[in-house]
Amino acid sequence: MKILIIHGPNLNMLGKREPDIYGATTLEEINAALTSKAKGLGAEVTFFQSNSEGEIVSNIQDAMSKFEGVVINPGAYTHTSVAIRDAILSSGLPVVEVHISNVHKREDFRHKSFISGVALGVVSGFGVNSYMLGLSGLVDYLKDNENN
Ligand code: DQA
Repeated sequence: MKILIIHGPNLNMLGKREPDIYGATTLEEINAALTSKAKGLGAEVTFFQSNSEGEIVSNIQDAMSKFEGVVINPGAYTHTSVAIRDAILSSGLPVVEVHISNVHKREDFRHKSFISGVALGVVSGFGVNSYMLGLSGLVDYLKDNENN
């Protein structure tokens, strides 16, 4: 079972970026934890990080033929990107939206997500554990739907 993990803009700065909100864990550490979590679940993860909306759109388009599902933290594009939403829709892949922080507890502009309406599910507010919860939810979903 192959899963793509997409990290959006500024997530390459994790560890240094607003640690009071996002914690001290780096992106490399998150990816290492996801790799071992995936192994335990019988899945294989591939990572992609970009600060560019167009690159994320192209990556989702490419994922169609290569992966069974996607976990994405779209970062600030969550609140602005019709293009990423449309790419998810046209991919037909199950996509789980994750956020480190609880976006609903924060500024009003973070309460709107263009992604949630086309996502299989959303995990927000559990720190870096949001990624682990999103991955295990997606793997469970794919296992349940394997033969359908
Ligand atoms: C974020 C929340 C977004 O509002 C913000 O722009 C981010 C990170 C999170 O993981 O909590 O870049 O997606």
